[in-house]
Amino acid sequence: MTAQLIDGKLISGQIKQEAAVEAAEIKAQGVTPCLAVVLVGNDSASQVYVNNKKKACEAVGIRSVSYELAEEATEEELLQLVAKLNADETVNGILVQMPLPKQIDEDKVILAIDAKKDVDCFHPINVGLLHTGGKGFLPCTPAGIIELIKRSGHTIQGQNCVIIGRSNIVGKPVAMLLMKENGTVTICHSKTRNLVEICRGADIIVSATGKVNTVTADMVKAGAVIIDVGMNRNEAGKLCGDVDFENVKDVAGAITPVPGGVGPMTIAMLMKNCLVAAKMQNNLI
Ligand code: GUN
Repeated sequence: MTAQLIDGKLISGQIKQEAAVEAAEIKAQGVTPCLAVVLVGNDSASQVYVNNKKKACEAVGIRSVSYELAEEATEEELLQLVAKLNADETVNGILVQMPLPKQIDEDKVILAIDAKKDVDCFHPINVGLLHTGGKGFLPCTPAGIIELIKRSGHTIQGQNCVIIGRSNIVGKPVAMLLMKENGTVTICHSKTRNLVEICRGADIIVSATGKVNTVTADMVKAGAVIIDVGMNRNEAGKLCGDVDFENVKDVAGAITPVPGGVGPMTIAMLMKNCLVAAKMQNNLI
């Protein structure tokens, strides 16, 4: 192993500690930050994520209220719950865990959440603000990626940043944030023709495809920073990322592991957004 291991558990712990200090300051001003977490259905991965989010709230000093709807819940039921949480002044952030059961239109639910409580930064208003460079919520996983790169001692300014994947949750928003940091950004995807060559020119690679071995050692320039957003299972059933870690680690300058890289950062940045929400709604910003 020649590459520096970027420790997401450690860095997310630092961010949560900073958030705890900030939460205490907000409470001292008479406001208790509160996140509402909504889980619909029985998806086991979602259950784990939601539990981790609630635990993080407790550790940071954010109140959390949780709602569980059945797998067969209707869109109307969920929209009614969202409306109730929008109207509840004690709730600062609303998180509806995705994916939702197929009878519910996710876009409709995202649109229904009050943009001021949209701590996921999924609402088109917040996505628009992100694109125009305004202040407000930052998308959790992309913001976590920026923190990982910076806090492990790497610069983004002027670097060739190659993103693989163009999703609304990771690929597109991380491109915006890397640009904001003055990186030169290329977004690649499943139809990109010369992925190997493009990656070979990258100083920073962010892979978010959900496909094992998207990034192999022959695609990596010596010393490059490799951020692996994937959460996959290999043939042996073992949790792994998009990157061929065992071989890439001998070429890269720095690399995130899976698990323990990007994953914990998403939740840490969610905590930060909850505090932003509580401050905005109480004129503390
Ligand atoms: N499902 C997978 N990642 C996320 C996330 O960041 N937020 C929500 N709400 N659902 C998700």
